[in-house]
Amino acid sequence: MNNKAFYLETFGCQMNIVDSEQIVDLLQNIGYSQVDSAERADLILLNTCSVRDKAERKVYGHLGRFKPIKDQRPELIIGVGGCVAQQEGERMLENVAYLDLVFGTHNIHQLPQLIRQIEEKRERSSATDFLDRETRLNLFPERTFRETVTRFVTVMQGCDNFCSYCIVPHVRGREISRPSSEVIDEVTELVKQGAREITLLGQNVNSYGLKDAAELSFAELLKKVNAIEGLERLRFATSHPKDLTDELIACFGSLDKLCHHIHLPFQSGSDRILKMMNRGYSVSEYLDKVARLKKICPEIRLTTDIIVGFPQENEEDFQATLDLVEEVRYADAFTFLYSPRIETAAAKMEDDQSKMEKQQRFDRLLQLQRRVSAEIWQEDAGCVLPVLVEGVSKQGEGQLFGRSTWNRIVNFSGATGLIGQTVPVKVSQVMRNSHLGELVEL
Ligand code: 5AD
Ligand code: SF4
Repeated sequence: MNNKAFYLETFGCQMNIVDSEQIVDLLQNIGYSQVDSAERADLILLNTCSVRDKAERKVYGHLGRFKPIKDQRPELIIGVGGCVAQQEGERMLENVAYLDLVFGTHNIHQLPQLIRQIEEKRERSSATDFLDRETRLNLFPERTFRETVTRFVTVMQGCDNFCSYCIVPHVRGREISRPSSEVIDEVTELVKQGAREITLLGQNVNSYGLKDAAELSFAELLKKVNAIEGLERLRFATSHPKDLTDELIACFGSLDKLCHHIHLPFQSGSDRILKMMNRGYSVSEYLDKVARLKKICPEIRLTTDIIVGFPQENEEDFQATLDLVEEVRYADAFTFLYSPRIETAAAKMEDDQSKMEKQQRFDRLLQLQRRVSAEIWQEDAGCVLPVLVEGVSKQGEGQLFGRSTWNRIVNFSGATGLIGQTVPVKVSQVMRNSHLGELVEL
């Protein structure tokens, strides 16, 4: 057994966060313990994201911080995993002389073996091959105990949608769903360990099980998970509007544990741009689904993702995006400036819009969304909301934090014994990203 320390930094989405949990488990199994400073580590790993911005360049820049440590301690092992590693592959070893290891999105399970090899032979290595369906499905190790109230459970991996701007299908591979029995077992186990809220995770959970006629639909899976005793709250992410079925919409009216929130990215309010994005729905189809969600669950709140500055997106297209934001009234939106990603179809599209125009539109969208968000969250002022308490807040001594059904953080004073319970909290102050509240004594 080793008696060594590792330092891990994670970038990007919830997928990467779950992958990092797996990395931690695997490394602990081979005798590494986690530390929170790179200076004290024998092994440094970056779990990277390439979905937006100049991700590759940023990773290279980030790695530069570790060079002085490696110069002082040449036995230090430095590795890069995740989507940038998948995309760049062996090239990263050529570009960064002090990098020892590159591992892709399908190769996490190989980490113990790769690290042992480097320890023994001091040979640099990279593993970025995509694995076939069967091999990948058998890779999920048992989840180790973590004392957290909320846990994520992967139901599917990869994506087959090939939205024209998106790198994900290229770096995460084809879509596969985990057998529903495995998902249910895992949720049952996590609830036994103390989890109260589960988020089912996938790039597009709505297409769960569609490749296998014998498998449950995602709505059927939700119903089964909803029935697990001891579970209090259920969420899922992310939903692709084109695959949001009536059966799934109906779950918001019938499943008592399903939170009244859905993240439903629309990306653009212009049919012309949606087509160029290869999104597979029109604005009216999207709005129709939103209307049905609101009808079945009037208190539902939506969040979304929006891309500004897609190639050839003009003022009229952009105005349609603003109109959609006004119409749907999202509680929150993640807004992104389009950034061309290597290998994607959109990266080859001509663009006639200036950078300055794009930036100005982005700022206008942000302003509008801030106003809408503020109006919606202000509705909570003075209300008593059920809050599932997740832990001790960073706000100060004696402060706890939890979330409302709408996934809004609520900070309030209370005893740590409340962690894991759902308690009534009266919202006293609405901040930009969270609420301040007071515990209502029963
Ligand atoms: N440029 C800008 N935003 C992007 N996203 C994905 N790819 C790109 C890109 N190339 C955004 C989408 C997606 C979210 C996770 O990231 O809005 O829903
Ligand atoms: Fe990317 Fe589209 Fe797949 Fe989402 S659905 S991961 S945006 S390709």
